[in-house]
Amino acid sequence: MKKILLTVSVLVLTGASTLSAHAQDIQGDKTVGATKNALCIGCHGIQGYHTGFPEVHKVPKISGQGAGYIRAALHAYKAGERKHPSMRTLASSLSDQDIADLAAYYESTGRGVTLPATAAEGSAKAAELVTQGGCTSCHGPNFSKPIDPSYPKIAGQHADYLYVALRSYKTNDKPLIGRAHPIMGGVAKQFSNADLKVLADYVGSLPSELQTVQRGRVK
Ligand code: HEC
Ligand code: HEC
Repeated sequence: MKKILLTVSVLVLTGASTLSAHAQDIQGDKTVGATKNALCIGCHGIQGYHTGFPEVHKVPKISGQGAGYIRAALHAYKAGERKHPSMRTLASSLSDQDIADLAAYYESTGRGVTLPATAAEGSAKAAELVTQGGCTSCHGPNFSKPIDPSYPKIAGQHADYLYVALRSYKTNDKPLIGRAHPIMGGVAKQFSNADLKVLADYVGSLPSELQTVQRGRVK
């Protein structure tokens, strides 16, 4: 527990680094955001759409994700802290206002369900790893109620994507793969890839507020 508290306080000091004060002040407009997603729906607007890089996996669900986290993620791609090549290129083409509008739009298009306050426990192994990593202390007892708006909802996200994302936090020496994030880097590096797979499968199996809004139904 001491270790978790320490990591949380480090985050308070470093968490705002990606977003400049200016970018944080910008208000997003979901109606405007809905008109700006033409570049996104080719991947995020197709149910079950797979990408091949760095391995075959489903693209993340972003409808229903918190706007604060969507903004943080897009700014991290733009700044090169997240190295995924196509998302870097796309995010770099967006202004701070575009990012705020798209984040507001995607946040507003979730499933609108009420989840149980606490997630059902998974296998004994999954429960042990969740305790070891202190996951619920940041992502919430149901993995969908993060303690800070810039932290993601992860319950019910595609398990194969969660596995790729978790491993990417362990990687910071490659030009095209990896995510530099002090907190999740510290969390992910404690675990073997086999353990990360157990965590990804468990979290991915939970009920979710997230969804993929099908391209044709957008607008
Ligand atoms: C070519 C396919 C493609 C397109 C087009 C695309 N994305 Fe992505 N997006 C991805 C993939 C793949 C990832 C996962 C990248 C990674 O591993 O970091 C991703 C990740 C994201 C994330 C982070 C999700 C998370 O849970 O951390 C956000 C937010 C996002 N995209 C928003 C957008 C927006 C907004 C647009 C339109 C401007 C867009 N994407 C266009 C494929 C795409
Ligand atoms: C101290 C707080 C903290 C703890 C503990 C923590 N996380 Fe995170 N997690 C975060 C933050 C903050 C992010 C966003 C990082 C970023 O912006 O890239 C994140 C991101 C993630 C992501 C990426 C989600 C996406 O959509 O790409 C996954 C998966 C994840 N965490 C799973 C876990 C798991 C599993 C555990 C427990 C083993 C855990 N986290 C423990 C704070 C935490």
